[in-house]
Amino acid sequence: MRTVFRRLLVGYDGSETARKAMLAAFELAQAFRGEVVALAVARPPEFAELEGEVNSALEEARGTLAEAFGWARNEAQKRGVNFKARTQVGHPAETLVRLAEEEHFDLIVLGRRGLTPVQRWMLGSVSERVLRYAPCAVMVVH
Ligand SMILES: Nc1ncnc2c1ncn2[C@@H]1O[C@H](COP(=O)(O)OP(=O)(O)OP(=O)(O)O)[C@@H](O)[C@H]1O
Ligand SMILES: [Mg+2]
Repeated sequence: MRTVFRRLLVGYDGSETARKAMLAAFELAQAFRGEVVALAVARPPEFAELEGEVNSALEEARGTLAEAFGWARNEAQKRGVNFKARTQVGHPAETLVRLAEEEHFDLIVLGRRGLTPVQRWMLGSVSERVLRYAPCAVMVVH
């Protein structure tokens, strides 16, 4: 069993909760002298068929996320944490799980879902799926 978390994968959708998850991952990376990869998954446009449409969705997402990643990069730098940001198009949970598998991450770090009264009782749909299918430990930051 692996209880040392060196390779940390953060699911990043730019939300406040995901930012908290990112900061928790940075603390773990400092403690374990590990590295953090943040993955933002952009959904493809609903009826995209041409590769060009998917590419332009990716470009658009990259633009929106550039700012959010800038914040993360800056926070990582302040703490001396090795950090990389990535963007992929696909289903968020599936893409996170696949990357964790393929690149042998030790831990996936996610934020909790937004806080409407009903949602308080449930995990978000992404965190729920990642927890179910992850090949490694998962942390949901509150
Ligand atoms: N598109 C995404 N790419 C990467 N990580 C994501 C993405 N969406 C969610 N996550 C991760 O999952 C965490 C929980 O988000 P989730 O989507 O499960 O909840 P929610 O957005 O509040 O609810 P829902 O999407 O089910 O309405 C986020 O804080 C983030 O860490
Ligand atoms: Mg969501």
